[in-house]
Amino acid sequence: MEILLKGLLRLEYRGYDSAGVGIDGGNGKEWEANARSIQLIKQSGKVKALDDEITKQQDMDMDVEFDVHLGIAHTRWATHGAPSPVNSHPQRSDKSNEFIVVHNGIITNYKDLRKFLESKGYEFESETDTETIAKLVKYMYDNRESEDLSFATLVERVTQQLEGAFVLVFKSVHYPGEAVGTRRGGPLLIGVKSDHKLSTDHIPILYRSCTMEQDTCHTLFAEDKKSVEYYFASDASAVIEHTNRVIFLEDDDVAAVTNGRLTIHRIKRTAGDHPARAIQTLQMELQQIMKGNFSSFMQKEIFEQPESVVNTMRGRVNFDDNTVILGGLKDHIKEIQRCRRLILIACGTSYHAGVATRQVLEELTELPVMVELASDFLDRNTPVFRDDVCFFISQSGETADSLMALHYCKERGALTVGVTNTVGSSISRETDCGVHINAGPEIGVASTKAYTSQFVALIMFALLMCDDRISMQPRRREIIQGLRVLPDLIKEVLSLDDEIQRLAAELYQQKSVLIMGRGYHYATCLEGALKIKEITYMHSEGILAGELKHGPLALVDKLMPVIMIIMRDHTYTKCQNALQQVVARAGRPIVICDKDDYETAKSSSRTIKVPHCVDCLQGVLSVIPLQLLSFHLAVLRGFDVDFPRNLAKSVTVE
Ligand code: F6R
Repeated sequence: MEILLKGLLRLEYRGYDSAGVGIDGGNGKEWEANARSIQLIKQSGKVKALDDEITKQQDMDMDVEFDVHLGIAHTRWATHGAPSPVNSHPQRSDKSNEFIVVHNGIITNYKDLRKFLESKGYEFESETDTETIAKLVKYMYDNRESEDLSFATLVERVTQQLEGAFVLVFKSVHYPGEAVGTRRGGPLLIGVKSDHKLSTDHIPILYRSCTMEQDTCHTLFAEDKKSVEYYFASDASAVIEHTNRVIFLEDDDVAAVTNGRLTIHRIKRTAGDHPARAIQTLQMELQQIMKGNFSSFMQKEIFEQPESVVNTMRGRVNFDDNTVILGGLKDHIKEIQRCRRLILIACGTSYHAGVATRQVLEELTELPVMVELASDFLDRNTPVFRDDVCFFISQSGETADSLMALHYCKERGALTVGVTNTVGSSISRETDCGVHINAGPEIGVASTKAYTSQFVALIMFALLMCDDRISMQPRRREIIQGLRVLPDLIKEVLSLDDEIQRLAAELYQQKSVLIMGRGYHYATCLEGALKIKEITYMHSEGILAGELKHGPLALVDKLMPVIMIIMRDHTYTKCQNALQQVVARAGRPIVICDKDDYETAKSSSRTIKVPHCVDCLQGVLSVIPLQLLSFHLAVLRGFDVDFPRNLAKSVTVE
């Protein structure tokens, strides 16, 4: 039980409106007999509420041990049906819990399936799409043509009826000690833990339905045939304290565990299928996903940025000879250099990283660069050509909109490049090539260190694209030397924390904050406003200063909090004009500016002075005060910074 609850806590950032566990229901000495019944415990709210409920049940009945041989658990982010115990997972087939299932994703044909099952006499208790799966598996089991139908085959048949995106793990009283997991359009990995030598370091796929015992060369087990523990999870943070050896499943893999043995099969072989799944060793450490001395993951991640940007550059940027190497792109860089245009596609903060680096990409690659929100890109059926190069920027590597845009671009023959933070994620695996940003696990729902690392990764790409252009060399050197000092400058900005906390104390009761800037800092405005909205629930808008007089200026008066970003770059004079326009309307702007900019300070009600660096990198520094500000505002307003309402870290639904 402890393993399940701890795993849920680590995954809570993915969704946290309700949680549940499904475990062996018996309480005797024999696990096999215990597994002939299933007990469900579910609760609204965060994992802590579930934990409290379990403790309460244990206190009420001292004989209850919850000694689990095999359990499944889930923390939910509601898509169909409000957060409530009955809507939370595991969902069940019937009142005696014959089959239970946990699900991430959305089943788009669930209404048809539900109608069919209702016509067969099934009574539904929840509003979820997931309950259809639980009922469908029972229906197919009850109507099986042969007694020895394996659990894996049964699940395979169920998934053939499902449309949409799903990651599923099943448990059943009819298959004691067995778990079956499968995925389509979402992540699922299996942690493998054993002190004994394993039978293989990769599992060949079985292209047919089978039972575990049928084919030992396709089965993973330990030398002593029993001492392997398996952990199904959506991401590695849930399993890393048990094992760093994992198998990433592919879409339509069906993985079955029985008595220490794992088999993976697929219904049929398709072109491009890899015939085996390797057991990979992850570099992630447990302490990387612990909060340490910080009050929240978000705060920890903000303060990690001097190291995370170094990790993004490590082994890739040589500051002595001004070269950049990106191993993940080396086989494709010539093709990219010949392309017609670059399209950067992403959502939320990752989209802002594209906006932030667009100008320098245009400058150094001399190519047209489009930056697209994945959902809008798809809505528009945007024309994409074979000679386009499409970048998919995604911290999680699992965002459904970005993933669907990736499929769309692949179908049209474009070269696809992933910029992700999650090794083994769908985007990193499905793109033709890519760059891992290596920022380390990001747990806080509000993205911070991933943004600055995405920013740096895209700059490195731009530098690589022009490494043989003689005319670009002075500019390249300037930027590379800017990257060299960036970590120290980030530290300097972080030392403004107390000052920003004081500013937050003045602002936290306000309803709204406007953030204005232009050029390299427009992205900072959008990103700062997003951070404020998502964790403080204050209204905030990022405004392009050039657009001020076309509408937003009407919002400015002496009461409206305005933050402006004014740096000494090619937009400086225009930003000064915007500052004067705000001041002339009795606005009292707080300005983020260069530390020696006394001119700007004269017209500002307050300044936040950040160190100067090369223009195209300055956005890494200007965003940090806004990350800190949003953090302090949220704390002062009494909100849970890591778990903002209605949001989830990894948005695996459209
Ligand atoms: C905001 C935030 C989101 C994500 C967006 C895309 O702080 O975290 O806006 O940036 O959901 O997620 P990824 O980067 O995982 O594709």
